[in-house]
Amino acid sequence: MAQEDQSRHGMWSSRLLFILAAAGSAVGLGNIWKFPYIVGENGGGAFVVVYLVCIFLIGVPIMMAEVLMGRHGRQSPINTMRLLVKESNARPFWIMIGWMGVLAGFLILSYYAVIAGWAFYYIFQLASGLFEGADGAFATETFNTFLADPWLMLFWQTLFMALTVFIVSRGVSRGLEAAIKWFMPLLFILMVAVVGYSMIWGDFAAGLSFLFSFDVSALSVDGVLIAMGQAFFTLSLGMGAIMAYGAYVPMNTSVTQTVITIALLDTGVALAAGLAIFPIVFASPGLEPGQGPGLMFVTIPLALGNLPFGAIVGAIFFALVSFAAITSAISLTEPALAYLVEEYNAKRERVAISLGVICWVLGIGTVLSFNVWADFHIVGEKTFFDFVDYVSQNIMLPLGGLLIALCAGWVLPKALVKAQLKLPAGVEPVWSVLIKFVAPAGVLAVFVYTLFGNVVA
Ligand code: PHE
Repeated sequence: MAQEDQSRHGMWSSRLLFILAAAGSAVGLGNIWKFPYIVGENGGGAFVVVYLVCIFLIGVPIMMAEVLMGRHGRQSPINTMRLLVKESNARPFWIMIGWMGVLAGFLILSYYAVIAGWAFYYIFQLASGLFEGADGAFATETFNTFLADPWLMLFWQTLFMALTVFIVSRGVSRGLEAAIKWFMPLLFILMVAVVGYSMIWGDFAAGLSFLFSFDVSALSVDGVLIAMGQAFFTLSLGMGAIMAYGAYVPMNTSVTQTVITIALLDTGVALAAGLAIFPIVFASPGLEPGQGPGLMFVTIPLALGNLPFGAIVGAIFFALVSFAAITSAISLTEPALAYLVEEYNAKRERVAISLGVICWVLGIGTVLSFNVWADFHIVGEKTFFDFVDYVSQNIMLPLGGLLIALCAGWVLPKALVKAQLKLPAGVEPVWSVLIKFVAPAGVLAVFVYTLFGNVVA
């Protein structure tokens, strides 16, 4: 079995930089914007428990599988899967993992850029001091006025997309590696500061009990699927992003330790975002946890607007959110980008621009979902944005994850997996059981449960 030591796209310069890059991919809008609002929409504590179980029993083993497969293949996910299929004498069917990932990446990035554009806009809104002394009604109205203006949204979406394309086309490693070293610790410190503020000014007890009290009756059937989808989304799993990053990991790095570190960092940021946002919701008349995608854009300006130096701290907060979004967006493009570079020997810049334009056009559908097309429903109550979000996050990522688990557990030669993971004898069976049975059964069970639940409901 050929074992390449290098990837043609470059390598992470150390174990730490891989952790930071993968954490940069994992920590993003999914943690700070999405996690709190879907917890809010799905009733709190019970949802959080299902989410945490999905992260550690399904997400961690699948992330290990993605890293080990990528590191063995040393190429884009599509070509890595081609190589693995050849070496395992398996059916070409499994290459679908790579193709589906590319498609999911497009869909996700299309709306990701729009929401990240909101964060950009809010940097300047906060810095202007607009929210000084604001109340809940004002914060809500400001946000709704923004959503009603498609041109303004389009402007910020375009800016985010252009910036992403620019960074991606220059090659990720140096610029990004350098920036990420500063950014991750800064994000942590600021999150802690905002949580501290929530503790004093917000209704911390109510926030805490909403996040952590286990009330099964508040959880819907669909909520379970959404919790699982969120676990995949937040860890960047199921679409090849981590497999692509895994291709650049040096052989002397422990897959298990790094993956667990990444999962803990990611979970920490999501929970901190919840602890920052919910106490403010419960302390502010007129705000409610289930208000949807605007939650972060209403609560944070409201809270910080009433603080000394709130304008500047708020601007920094949204700058960090935007940066977190860029480091995730980059990883969303990497599978398609690496593939096109390998296949056609194309220039990174050209590929990046073409990918960017496609995502930008698709993203216009999301921009319009909040205003002109707000009453246009693709299925049920779902707008274009809801639909793209639901299909990519709740169907495609778990399905991709399921195939990755089955492939790593049942199809790849044992020796290949062993050589990559180098697990101590006692831990090896645990990994085997998780990847062969627990992770696939978990994803399947949730799929079947949702299908069945929806039929009954
Ligand atoms: N994990 C990112 C976030 O939480 C989103 C993402 C999903 C990035 C899939 C890459 C791949 O914001």
